[in-house]
Amino acid sequence: MSSKRLIVALDFENFDEMSKFVAHLDPNSCVVKVGLQLFIAEGAKVLDFLSLKGFEIFLDLKLHDIPNTVNKAVQEISRFNVSMTTIHLQGGIEMIAAANEAKANIKILGVSLLTSLDGSDTKMLYSNDFDKQFNNLIAVAKNAEVDGVVCSSKELLMLSDSPLLKVVPGIRNQNLLDDQKRTMTSSEAYKNGADYIVVGRPITQSANIKDAIKEYS
Ligand code: C5P
Repeated sequence: MSSKRLIVALDFENFDEMSKFVAHLDPNSCVVKVGLQLFIAEGAKVLDFLSLKGFEIFLDLKLHDIPNTVNKAVQEISRFNVSMTTIHLQGGIEMIAAANEAKANIKILGVSLLTSLDGSDTKMLYSNDFDKQFNNLIAVAKNAEVDGVVCSSKELLMLSDSPLLKVVPGIRNQNLLDDQKRTMTSSEAYKNGADYIVVGRPITQSANIKDAIKEYS
């Protein structure tokens, strides 16, 4: 595993905004994450640009579809220079196996429960407690042999014995009163076993980007 622990989420509307922001980042100190908004808006040229700049890239499209479709999608992703990509664990064992079959050198990360969900959501969606539903999904992750999981820092202690890579969004050193419900500070998340933390708005919207990166590294 690389020594980089901070993944900066490049949640921008377009290429220009992204490239202006990326000028503040050092490829040796962070991984960059390209998500749905930017990838849908600008496509593969974003990945080519970041790759040429020397960045390690996490392509976060959270695939969730029938196994054949996911297999073909991961095959396409494997043509890009990306090191990690995401699928939803809720897609089930066969879908994850189909992703694994096509992944080449890419690490497949399984999204457990989104950090914007809490116990009231899992009750409504699955008639289940949050922790029980989380553990069901982690059992799927283990059986299907994904490389890692995406989870909130609150669940890290339930994974302390797990060899899975732990990638943790929902990181807030200050309360931004936004859509993230299960948040934790960067130092707590690292202390609780996060291999990587994913940080978007606290860095991208910061008045002082360099200081924010230091604070979250
Ligand atoms: O701006 P913020 O720090 O909330 O960004 C978090 C990033 O992590 C977003 O790009 C979001 O899509 C992603 N993410 C998440 N929760 C997950 C998986 C990914 O917030 N469970």
